[in-house]
Amino acid sequence: MFYVSTPIYYVNDAPHLGHAYTTVAGDVLTRWHRQRGEQVWYLTGTDEHGQKIMRTAEANGVTPQEWSDKLVEEAWKPLWQHLEIANDDFIRTTEKRHTERVQEFVQDLYDKGEIYKGGYEGPYCVGCEEFKTPGDLLEGDLCPIHKRPVEWLREDNYFFKLSEYGERLLEFYEANPDFIQPASARNEVLQFVRTGLQDLSISRSTFDWGIPIPWDDKHVIYVWVDALLNYATAVGYGSDPERFERIWPADVHLVGKDILRFHAVIWPAMLMANGLPLPGKVFANGWLMVGGEKMSKSNLTGISPRQLTEHFGVDAYRYYFLRAIPFGQDGSFSWEDFSARYTSELANDFGNLASRVAAMIGKYFDGELPASAEREEAVAGALAATVAKADRAIGDELDFAGGLGAIFDFVKLVNGYLSEQEPWKVAKDTSEEGRARLATILYTAAESLRAVAVLLNPVMPGTAEKLWASLGAEEHLGALAEQRVAEAGQWGRLPAGARVVKGEILFPRLES
Ligand code: MSP
Repeated sequence: MFYVSTPIYYVNDAPHLGHAYTTVAGDVLTRWHRQRGEQVWYLTGTDEHGQKIMRTAEANGVTPQEWSDKLVEEAWKPLWQHLEIANDDFIRTTEKRHTERVQEFVQDLYDKGEIYKGGYEGPYCVGCEEFKTPGDLLEGDLCPIHKRPVEWLREDNYFFKLSEYGERLLEFYEANPDFIQPASARNEVLQFVRTGLQDLSISRSTFDWGIPIPWDDKHVIYVWVDALLNYATAVGYGSDPERFERIWPADVHLVGKDILRFHAVIWPAMLMANGLPLPGKVFANGWLMVGGEKMSKSNLTGISPRQLTEHFGVDAYRYYFLRAIPFGQDGSFSWEDFSARYTSELANDFGNLASRVAAMIGKYFDGELPASAEREEAVAGALAATVAKADRAIGDELDFAGGLGAIFDFVKLVNGYLSEQEPWKVAKDTSEEGRARLATILYTAAESLRAVAVLLNPVMPGTAEKLWASLGAEEHLGALAEQRVAEAGQWGRLPAGARVVKGEILFPRLES
């Protein structure tokens, strides 16, 4: 089973562009693998315990549970639906299926002697829900990520013996060089672990919005230990061994780079301590930036995913961020850049190609796809190479920008082919050879679009579906979702005789 997870998001606020970025990436990755014909499990959810949520709820005069319920149902789930996220499950950390299993997991570590009671004091950032090392702080004792003052916390807590796992972790990274990606993220973690790990405080006793420590109910479990375990509890850890066996472990944990250490250090150490198999990969994506700062609720200046989808449409939204920003690097959002790509790549290169080809087949062949007299080797060869490249980039390397770049280079190539062949001129030649030539040109273009629909389906499912319908492909080849990536590059699948109709415009002109 190809199992992919997103971080579970804090429900202190509504989702913004940064959250949607990771969730869309995971959706494209998993749709791609489904289209390879693999069994796939895509998990997302919400992180609902801890001080941050508790304080937000208090400030709004409701209980943390009421607050979480409201945000999950009114903000998070509806946005994922709106963005066509095809997750297989949605886990909330306040669900019983989670809380009970988390207690069992922690109890198990306690029984194994991995947890002891101790005291700790240090600067704590509630935004990160993390103790900071004094050396990491900015001037004025500000958290380097949230740029807000940290709090001094002194508590008697339970500790996990994380410090004992440094060597084993380094050996594991060594033996699994692809475990942490991209390379910059891997290097950061290696350096961090090499400097030596401290034991991890895994309980809190100064507030109670969390899962009680099973052997000492004056403490609640540290929100990060609780949260990380969602990846296990959601797929049947401790409750459904058969299911757990089938899905576990995750192939890819997608995370933002700010939460890399939790996933690449603490999480594997917890699993080692418990004796569970470790995940295949932790991939850290970069940040969406605004004015040189990590985009966050406070500096969003009012842009929400829905404002962008209203203007550009859902499919263009899903496309834009993955195409414009190399996955793993930071990137800025700007209306100008989005508009420019929309117009040149989506509307002109791709949308116009689809409507021109359908229009010409309508005009010259009454909408019936003609048989091709010969095979255009240059186009067919370019298609096969494109499929191989996109499959490796998107499916294996999570290089969405590279994969989409390859697909759109092919779209450009087909445009170039039409400009060169000038079918509108060939159409004036009514001789048998002229008709045969025209048939070859238009068949070649339509067959190319057939493949493009398959390749773009994971990224822009609505648009790909429209194109599939306009090519009359379903009747002969079946549902678009059933098309396999491996077959996309085989030339000549769309049969002569398919009913081609000029469908609606794929990417309408933007309103100014
Ligand atoms: N609840 C934890 C994750 C627990 S996972 C076991 C958390 N939640 S969060 O809501 O604060 O952030 C979730 C994810 O959103 C993180 O991966 C974070 O990197 C990502 N992003 C938040 N702002 C972002 C950008 N501006 N750009 C890209 N991703 C961003 O951390």
